[in-house]
Order: sequence, then structure tokens, then C-alpha cells
Amino acid sequence: MAARKQARTQATRADTARTQTVKVWDIWVRAFHWLLVAALVLAWYSGEYGFDELGAKTWHMRIGMVVLGLVIFRVLWGFVGSETARFSQFLRGPRAIMDYLRASRRGEPTPIGHNPIGGWAVVVLLLIAAAQPLTGLFATDDILASGYLADDVPQAIQGAIGGWHKPMFNVLLALAGLHVLAIVAYRFKGENLTRWMIVGRRPAPIHWRRPRFASPVRALACAAVAAVVAVGIPVIWG
Ligand code: HEM
Repeated sequence: MAARKQARTQATRADTARTQTVKVWDIWVRAFHWLLVAALVLAWYSGEYGFDELGAKTWHMRIGMVVLGLVIFRVLWGFVGSETARFSQFLRGPRAIMDYLRASRRGEPTPIGHNPIGGWAVVVLLLIAAAQPLTGLFATDDILASGYLADDVPQAIQGAIGGWHKPMFNVLLALAGLHVLAIVAYRFKGENLTRWMIVGRRPAPIHWRRPRFASPVRALACAAVAAVVAVGIPVIWG
């Protein structure tokens, strides 16, 4: 019995040692990720220092709508997109999390796509990234800068929702910091997740199945819906 188990472990190790290069992230997830990072940096800069002399924060609000559009795109893609982008593929229960932790302790490579812990982190990051522009819609400095919906709601709502806009950014920063720390930790395990998120490919054991990728037409449809919302809000309420 013990000999059979040992033989099986050795076979698994041998399989794991032989690697193939697998496409893991489609261009849409990668573009979404790096555009989101860039848009959040620009949103912070334009919020702190402004790009417009009059202090109306026009550019800050436009960039906020880009953040909102990106998150809407990613949420839609999480339902109809490529296998590794789908929430149903990476949102897993406690048993999958425990299995993953055990496999990780045995030194097995991370699964294709988000691991069961990273998957939940993705949802939290998306929620907080969405909360930034959504609270901003109701935020006001009572002088020059008002979110697109701030003047259409009672002051109590402005305060109750808009008041979260600035504190929420600190939450986002803390989470982004944790996110980057986790990625650095994987680097020590020999897994360069950042490179995979840039080039879209990663090494994986030879026997692992390659994920399926959705058609670009679907991605363009999701992008169109996101653009209609992101452009529609300032056009109608701006
Ligand atoms: C404001 C900062 C950031 C935010 C809000 C953020 C947000 C996210 C989100 C939402 C995902 C999921 C991607 C998806 O499935 O579509 C993700 C994944 C990822 N991010 Fe970031 N990110 C930030 C900064 C960074 C930075 C600076 C790096 C690189 C140093 C990085 C590297 C990665 C990698 C490698 C993944 C894939 C993780 C995995 O394999 O599960 N991120 N990030």
C-alpha cells in the first residue's frame, strides 16, 4: 500500500517536473488589469492635484468613469468570458481552499488561473475599485467639484454615500498593497505571476489541460455595454 502511494507520488512529481507553456490570461483580462492600475493612479493624481485650473475636477470625474467602465467590463467578462476569467471557475468553497493550501505545502504549482484564495481577493478588489467611482458620483466639496449625481440627491445622501469616497481610497490602497505583497510572496516560491499577467502565458505541468478562451466578439459586446454606462452617466447628468 505504502509502496503504491510512494510510486504514485513519484509519478506525480515526474509529471509536474515536465512543463509546457500554457496561455492563461486572454488579452482582455490583461488589458483590464493594467488599464485599471493606470486609471486608478491617474484618478488619484487628478483628485489630489487636479488637471483643470478651476478646481472642478472634470478630468478626475472622467477618469473615475473609466474606472467604472473597466469594472463593469470585467464583471460581465466574469460571466461570459474566457474560462480563467469566469467567477464560476475561480470562486470556490472552503474545501477547495484547504485542498489548495495542502497542495501548496507539498510544493505543487499554483492552479491555472486564479487560485481559490486569490479568486476571492479578486472579488474584493473589484468591489472596492467599483465603490470608488460609485461613491464619487455623490461626492461634493460644496464649492466647485460635484459628482455627476450629487446635485440630484438630498444633502443627507450626498454625505452618507459621497462621504465614503476619500476614506474608501485608503481601503483600496491597503488592499492593493496586500495584493502586491502576495504576488511578491509567490515570487519567492519561484512563480512570476506579474510576468504571466503581462505576457498571458505561464509554465504548467505537462498533463494539465489548457483553458478555453472566449471569442473577441463577446469581449467587444461587454466593452460596448461598459462604455455606454461610463459615457452615458456624464452625458446625461454631467
Ligand atoms: C491599484 C492597484 C491594483 C489593483 C486595484 C489590482 C487589481 C487586480 C484585480 C482586480 C485582479 C484580477 C484580475 C482579473 O481576473 O481580471 C488582479 C490580478 C493580478 N494582479 Fe493586480 N491590481 C493592482 C496592482 C497590481 C500590481 C502593481 C501588480 C504587479 C506587481 C499586480 C499584479 C497582479 C497579478 C499578477 C494578478 C494575477 C494574480 C493571480 O494569478 O491570481 N497587480 N489585480
